[in-house]
Amino acid sequence: MRGIVLIGFMGTGKTTVGRLLAERLGLPFEDVDDTIERVTARTINQIFQESGEAYFRERETHALKELLEKRGGGAVVSTGGGAVLREENWRLLRKLGGIVALMASPETIHERVKHLTHRPLLNVPNPFDEIVRLLRERSPYYRRADAVVETDGLAPAAVAAEVAHRLGLPWVP
Ligand code: S3P
Repeated sequence: MRGIVLIGFMGTGKTTVGRLLAERLGLPFEDVDDTIERVTARTINQIFQESGEAYFRERETHALKELLEKRGGGAVVSTGGGAVLREENWRLLRKLGGIVALMASPETIHERVKHLTHRPLLNVPNPFDEIVRLLRERSPYYRRADAVVETDGLAPAAVAAEVAHRLGLPWVP
């Protein structure tokens, strides 16, 4: 079975939905942020603080290359929200599998992330405004996916089913 790549903004459920898909379809699951933390032995917050965003983006591309070598397009891969910003990453994402974007409104995203502190880009005085700004900037990238799934009001299991459906994969509820 071909791999699945989940892209989308922070807090759209890529990791939760990715795990569900992998479990149900019998594929390995890989989370790009987890890979980066493991390889660098630092948290994403530490990497941003100590080495800056540009360095993090280098690590992100490197992690995608490593995942492609390791899995060869046979896994469910959940990416960080900014992985879509580099053209080089798109070539890797396409080789990793069918690309599905998970979308959500700024209100939903804010609700999901407001008590969490592990996302350096949202550790700002007014996270809601930052979500609106970044979403506006990034939406055109997310919409380049093979399929776009609106997740507002949907539980993770329903989103997973929709992703499978949009990729033409078998799914028994
Ligand atoms: C980022 C999203 C994060 C993580 C990093 C940067 C972004 O991943 O990669 O904090 O630029 O949107 P999640 O989308 O899994 O939160």
